[in-house]
Parts: sequence; structure tokens; C-alpha cells
Amino acid sequence: MSSALLIPGVATACAQESQKAVLVGEKPLILSTWNHGLPANAAAMGKLNAGGSILDAVEEGVRDTELDLANLSVGLQGLPDREGITTLDASIMTGDGNCGSVAFVRQIKHPISLARKVMENTPHVMLAGEGARQFAIMEGFPLEEEVLSPKAAEAYAKWKETSQYKPIINIENHDTIGMIGIDSQGNMAGSCTTSGLAYKMHGRVGDSPIIGAGLYVDNEVGAATATGLGETIIKICGSFLIVELMRQGRTPQEACEEAVRRLISKNKNINDIQAGFLAINKEGVTGAFAVHPGFNFAKATSKENVMIDSSSHFKP
Ligand code: GLY
Repeated sequence: MSSALLIPGVATACAQESQKAVLVGEKPLILSTWNHGLPANAAAMGKLNAGGSILDAVEEGVRDTELDLANLSVGLQGLPDREGITTLDASIMTGDGNCGSVAFVRQIKHPISLARKVMENTPHVMLAGEGARQFAIMEGFPLEEEVLSPKAAEAYAKWKETSQYKPIINIENHDTIGMIGIDSQGNMAGSCTTSGLAYKMHGRVGDSPIIGAGLYVDNEVGAATATGLGETIIKICGSFLIVELMRQGRTPQEACEEAVRRLISKNKNINDIQAGFLAINKEGVTGAFAVHPGFNFAKATSKENVMIDSSSHFKP
């Protein structure tokens, strides 16, 4: 990797930059996976600027994506499992080690806020399935009707023509939002939310609600989040691995690259697998790396909010 500094330009919200290692940190800073990260970052920064905490910011940011009707991989409009039911996974974590998550939950518009309630209002870290739904009702979350969005219904009907179960990841059918952020005092938090793999087996849970796989945050070191085929990320405890590599002295970029190498070494059929990681260390230095080209992320500072193409193990 090049070690050039990122020179701040007159970036606009839609500007595309190629990824460069950033060795001078910036705070506050928010990173989010994929194109939907741009409006999510804007919502998160808005919350932070309005006096919210970094935890409030990462919750607010991904709530925006959970409502995005154009998005087929986050929120209740996401593609369903192979029974035609949309089930959601989400997690949230603060830099002091507090965390909460929900998995395989139905009918809840904002699983990220439910994950936060698990963190704040229960002695547990994770609630799943019907238990998570019951807890949501207790907390006053409205239950949404279980109807597929028009786009998801159309895609599901097409999939059913062959019902081919092949968990291939690509940007079109799978693009979880993972968000990590640091405020100007160095407090960190992260959030991750998804409808998971399209046409998954009913009951399948991915990496996003699993602390250490889809998300990990530690104010002493840094934060990481993941996107892509969850099974491959769970197998290497991807986000925890990156934070621990940073603890041992790797830069965020080196840590993301090592996690991708580890993932590749533990998974066959790597041609069919996409996964990507984002990391920030406690100085506000960033890293990003993916298995294949095509992964991008949004980076927001107090000056700009821009899309950046991640580098990858396999080259275009
Ligand atoms: N990365 C999200 C999932 O596999 O469900």
C-alpha cells in the first residue's frame, strides 16, 4: 500500500476518490460501508453536530438506511429468506465494551434501535427471533405488517422460478451497512444492520449481530466493521481480529489486509465470496480492504463526506 497522505480537496458529497492510506488521523470521523453510507454518514454527522453522542450518531446514521426503500439488503424492504420472510440482524457497540444485538427478528422497522435497547435495558447482549420481537413489543416498538416491498416481491418471485440456493455475494444482492465512528474526544461507537443474505435458509444468522464478527469497538485501540458473506467473517472473528491486530501495532490498513488474507486462507471457493472490512484506530486513522474489487465506503469528517473505492486482494 502507498503511504501517501490524503490531501483534502474540494470534495463534494458525490465525489469519488481512490483509496489512499491515511496516516494522519482525523476526529470526528465516521466510516460506513457502500454507497448508502453517504446519506447515513450525513445523518450521523448531523446528530453529532447537534450535540448527540457518538453512540447516538451511529444509531441515527444506519436508521436512515433501514428506511431506504431502494435498499434490498437492509431493513424490512430487504430481500427475504427462501420462505419469503424478511428477517433482520443488527448490533451496536460503544468503545467502553458495552454492546447489544438482535438476530433473526421480524416486523421491526429499526432493529438497530432494538439492539440499543437490548444493550441499555437488559442484562443480556443478544436477543433472537420471537424473544427479540416480544422484547420489542415490551419496549413499545410498533410491529410492521409482514408484506414484502414491491421490489423485494418481484425479485423473490423471479428467484422462485429456479429456487437456486447458492449463497453468492455481490453488491446487488448483499450490502449490509456497517458504520464506525470516533468523536473529537476519542470516544468510539459502531453499528451494523442488515436483512442478511438474500434467500437464506429460514433462521440463518450472519455476522452483523455477532459482536466481534460484524462489529467490534474498543476505545483503547479502535473499531472495525464488516460486510459480505457473513459465514466467512464469523469464521475468522473478523472485526475482533482487526482490532486485536491494531492493538499489536498494525495500522488499520494493515489489519484489514491481514483479516482478508486470513479469510481467504480459511474459505474455499474464494472466487464466489466477497467480504470487506473498515477500520479506524484511536487516532482517527482509517483502513479498508476487500477480497474482490467493487467494495466502496463513505468517509465523513467535519469537512467532507465522500465515497472511496476500497483496494482489494484480487485486482480488477
Ligand atoms: N454480512 C451480513 C450477512 O452475511 O448477513
